Amino acid sequence: MVEPVQPRVVVITGGSSGIGLGSAALFASKGWRVGLISRNKERLASASSLIEAWTPGATVAWAAADVSDEEALAAAARRIAATLGPISVWVNAAGNGVYGHFADVPADEFRRVTEVTYLGTVNGTRVALSHMRPRDEGTIVNVCSAVVFHGVPLMTSYSGAKAAVRAFSQSLRLELRLAGSHVRLGTLFPPAINTPFFDHAISHMGFPSRPVPPVYGTRVAAQGVYFCATGGGGEMLLTGVVIAYSLIVRVSLRLAGFLVSKSDFASELPRDDPGSARMPSLFAPACSRCVMDGGFGSQARSWSTHLKLLSAWRALRSAMMPAPKLRASRPVVRSPRAPGCADAHRSPAGSALPEPAASDSGR
Ligand SMILES: NC(=O)c1ccc[n+]([C@@H]2O[C@H](COP(=O)([O-])OP(=O)(O)OC[C@H]3O[C@@H](n4cnc5c(N)ncnc54)[C@H](OP(=O)(O)O)[C@@H]3O)[C@@H](O)[C@H]2O)c1
Repeated sequence: MVEPVQPRVVVITGGSSGIGLGSAALFASKGWRVGLISRNKERLASASSLIEAWTPGATVAWAAADVSDEEALAAAARRIAATLGPISVWVNAAGNGVYGHFADVPADEFRRVTEVTYLGTVNGTRVALSHMRPRDEGTIVNVCSAVVFHGVPLMTSYSGAKAAVRAFSQSLRLELRLAGSHVRLGTLFPPAINTPFFDHAISHMGFPSRPVPPVYGTRVAAQGVYFCATGGGGEMLLTGVVIAYSLIVRVSLRLAGFLVSKSDFASELPRDDPGSARMPSLFAPACSRCVMDGGFGSQARSWSTHLKLLSAWRALRSAMMPAPKLRASRPVVRSPRAPGCADAHRSPAGSALPEPAASDSGR
């Protein structure tokens, strides 16, 4: 017997802001149940309310955890799975950065960027696999960056962490393939995206950090995450600019270095609101309002031709392919419910579920 199709579940680290929040909103609008993880309960609750306001009827749950703490992350994932059901897609979007010359960046800040942006992705991937491997299905998306193709000045810690994310993902993708696993791993390479990232990064440059143009809107990145999550895994370059960047690096590293050094790294980019609050959040979550877009909206492109072409190609391919045979769905194995995560709990968005350790989750 073929069981009715259950709404699928996506868990997104960094889901309270920027690309994570935009992706969560997009998944919710397409009928997915959405689980959000980041550090600040209030911001998670307000992200949850925003998604429910944008998509009435959306099912959203959240749990607070620092991605650099694997145990806390695993507990958060268990709570979300117990509330929403088995996790089909896991997106690692939590990240942070520090801007400044290498010599000006204190060692603890450098280490922390690596712990959050690289090891946080490793932790998230390990937790996701622990949910997906037993069912032998699911997709992990690691939000990486175009800086992996050639590191950029004033972002040494971030460039190194993202390069590590790419190499880690490549190794693991092959391991999974060689093991015959059906779990997929995608890596997304966005260019500069207009998110609050630049308000959350520490700057040692003498002026606030800012994206290097061309800048794209957050929704473009969210569409890339969704595309990656619903494809077959692999590496995905989000825009033509990223493709050009990666090709130049292949043609000549020297040329790439020359072009990067000619980019406008060392000057301030005007913000839409020059007085907007900047809240570095490397060591502790920002207390700022939870938003999807940053302060450079007037300069941000709202589309990617490359993404449009990829989407058209996918639509054409699926139209030409014969309809897949329906297979009886595997029995849904629900994770055991954590104390306090009862089915009966139907609190409105933002109210925290009772939790064993602390009230750091909600639905
Ligand atoms: N914006 C860009 O130009 C751009 C380009 C390429 C790639 N990316 C990547 O895209 C991802 C999302 O960045 P974004 O631009 O959306 O930045 P953002 O708006 O600053 O969002 C970062 C998210 O990560 C969470 N976070 C930060 N540190 C965390 C930690 N230790 N544990 C758990 N959650 C943590 C934040 O929530 P709390 O602070 O409340 O915990 C927030 O939800 C990052 O990996 C970034 O490197 C960004």
